[in-house]
Amino acid sequence: MSSGKFNPKASHPIGVFDSGIGGLTVAKAISDLLPNESLIYFGDTAHMPYGEKSPHAIKSYSEKIASFLIDQPCKLIVIACNSASATAFRQVQKILPDKHFVINVIDPVVQHLSRDGHRRKIGLIGTKRTVSSAVYKKKFEKADPDIQLKSLATPLLAPMIEEGFFNNKISRTIVHSYLSNPHLAHIESIILACTHYPLIINEISSFYKGKVEIINSAEIVSLAVKNFLDENSLLNKSSKAPGHKFFVSDYTSSFEETAKIFFGGKIKLKEKNLWNEK
Ligand code: DGL
Repeated sequence: MSSGKFNPKASHPIGVFDSGIGGLTVAKAISDLLPNESLIYFGDTAHMPYGEKSPHAIKSYSEKIASFLIDQPCKLIVIACNSASATAFRQVQKILPDKHFVINVIDPVVQHLSRDGHRRKIGLIGTKRTVSSAVYKKKFEKADPDIQLKSLATPLLAPMIEEGFFNNKISRTIVHSYLSNPHLAHIESIILACTHYPLIINEISSFYKGKVEIINSAEIVSLAVKNFLDENSLLNKSSKAPGHKFFVSDYTSSFEETAKIFFGGKIKLKEKNLWNEK
């Protein structure tokens, strides 16, 4: 449990976390949709990639980061990582005095697609942790049993993106090789079940040439954030420019570069290793 008293206010920032730069795609979508909101972002670059870690490790990292964000104080926590959403959502809910003040990146996407009704064969690419958890499969079985889900673990992609390999020949070759897997044949839509993947959306679109709809969870999740804040009278109505803060557990230049591109160069990146503090 975090040390402070939880008393969310509209003026408080939204806390967003991921293992690295992937969650910036969610943070960017939130900031585009809700330009008055301030964000506190934590990228756990010291422990990246989460997709290769045990559930126990991911739970423990996520608890620590969520406590830090609550202590800032943030009014809402967004787990901008599928691997952590798949394994640590309940853990993060438990450390919050009110379990509703955390949003994961999986439920909004499942709800969005289940409501729709026209897609039957959906593909999914994600980390080993997300795919082996079968969390999307279980949730679709409950929400819309007619949906056939074809999931493929694509473990090279997140570390590749984290190292700055996107929009180039190498990333195109790796993406094309994964997407040619027969398991994904004849899908109508594909869920990008890793928040790093919107950074390689050009490579994915070039493979499908408009024949498969690409589901980018960042936009869907930002809408869920907006609805939650609205329903709880926590939307920031102040006209003051928002102030975003970005923390990483281990400094990486690719994080700084990507954050600058996304947030217009006005970012302050701070290294904060929550695991080395007394
Ligand atoms: N961005 C994270 C996700 O959505 C994965 C990256 C990692 O494996 O650390 O699952």
